[in-house]
Amino acid sequence: MSALPTSTTPPLSYSGYHKEQSAEPDRFLCEVGRGTPGGEYLRRFWQPVAYESELNEVPLRIRALGEDLVVFRDGSGRIGVLHMRCCHRNTSLEFGLIEERGLRCCYHGRLYAVDGTCIDMPGEPAADRLMRSVSQGAYPIHLFAGIIFTYMGPPERLPVFPMYDRFRLPGIRLVPGTRFKQDCNWIQIKENTVDPHHTQTLHVIPQLRGMAHFAPEFGSFPVFTFTETAGGVAYLASRHVGDKVWVRSADIVGANLHCISSIFEGGQTTKAASAPFMSIWSLPVDDDHTMTFFVSHALDGETMPFEKRRYLEIFGQTDDRPYRERQWLPGDHEAQVGQGPINIHALEHLATNDRGIVLFRRFIRRGIDAVRAGQDPVGFYMRAEDVPATFANDRVVPASAIAGDPDDPAVLRAHAENLAKEYLSAPPMTYLAGGTHHD
Ligand code: FES
Ligand SMILES: [Fe+2]
Repeated sequence: MSALPTSTTPPLSYSGYHKEQSAEPDRFLCEVGRGTPGGEYLRRFWQPVAYESELNEVPLRIRALGEDLVVFRDGSGRIGVLHMRCCHRNTSLEFGLIEERGLRCCYHGRLYAVDGTCIDMPGEPAADRLMRSVSQGAYPIHLFAGIIFTYMGPPERLPVFPMYDRFRLPGIRLVPGTRFKQDCNWIQIKENTVDPHHTQTLHVIPQLRGMAHFAPEFGSFPVFTFTETAGGVAYLASRHVGDKVWVRSADIVGANLHCISSIFEGGQTTKAASAPFMSIWSLPVDDDHTMTFFVSHALDGETMPFEKRRYLEIFGQTDDRPYRERQWLPGDHEAQVGQGPINIHALEHLATNDRGIVLFRRFIRRGIDAVRAGQDPVGFYMRAEDVPATFANDRVVPASAIAGDPDDPAVLRAHAENLAKEYLSAPPMTYLAGGTHHD
């Protein structure tokens, strides 16, 4: 029997008055502060806080996981991350003086080493005793590819910095990027990675309006496959392009890194695996702000000048364009921040192509549950050999090489599902370990 509208069924047309508008965000998933389920989970990962190039003769004030911090490099080259408020009388160390052995508070001159120990209390008669009992909050750091990472979790179990396979490929340089400030919760920044449906719409708008951005082949709608990986969640988008079948994949690993291959890939040239293009970490600044850091993977002999590439890879990722231009040529920033300060999942209406979103939220929820149960979440590794492989790459094969009609979505999906299985045992980056690249 067809479902005819009844007096209790709101109409679909002119339905504004009937819409629920007061739902709450998913705080379990989205909160980042100390002591919250999500905040404790996020404190099990190395978080990016600054580019090394941002450090100079004065401290850098930052905010991470709802905590105000300062980052500095002392005169002997050591980098420190300290709680911003001085433990003496709470003034801000952003006004401190950088010295050979640490950071000196501007107010009464306590000097803190990079590990937060107090090594000088000028004029204080009880200095010897106090310096043995009082310290400034501090976090360990790890410097990688020009980015300073800090670990804000329990220091008794310090995980290794996960050196994923894509960071160790010959012939590929890691070029530090710039910061993207995003006035919204970190979940909606990260889940965009496993929402490949948007590349066919959002990233084709510039092309439709006269600007070359992503390769034109992104405009054809792919067949999607979503999968969990050893390290997180990935998608595979399959297209029949000319006489080739092109499967593009991207993944999120750990909680806060996502990996993509080239936005200029068009699937025209046969390749076992394409090189990495960008690796992107997002720091949850607080519940409704995020700061994203990235490195570009640059191949020797790229034909596009790097400045042009950098312009195109960050186009649409920040709000530093005129509002009118952002409306006319919206990018990821507009779509993500446009979901609101914390996207209200209860008001969404997900569909078939949103399976990656579902898998990602489930993955994060599982990680939060693991930490609550006293276990390590996926993405936390005490040993380098436990760090899993990444997926993001493009595999292009002759259409004649796949079983069945390449215009049949079921055939494309079966091909991608096989590839997803193959990647688990033969990760795509292993094809690049010899140093030969196709791009
Ligand atoms: S407030 Fe920092 S030394 Fe007094
Ligand atoms: Fe995007």
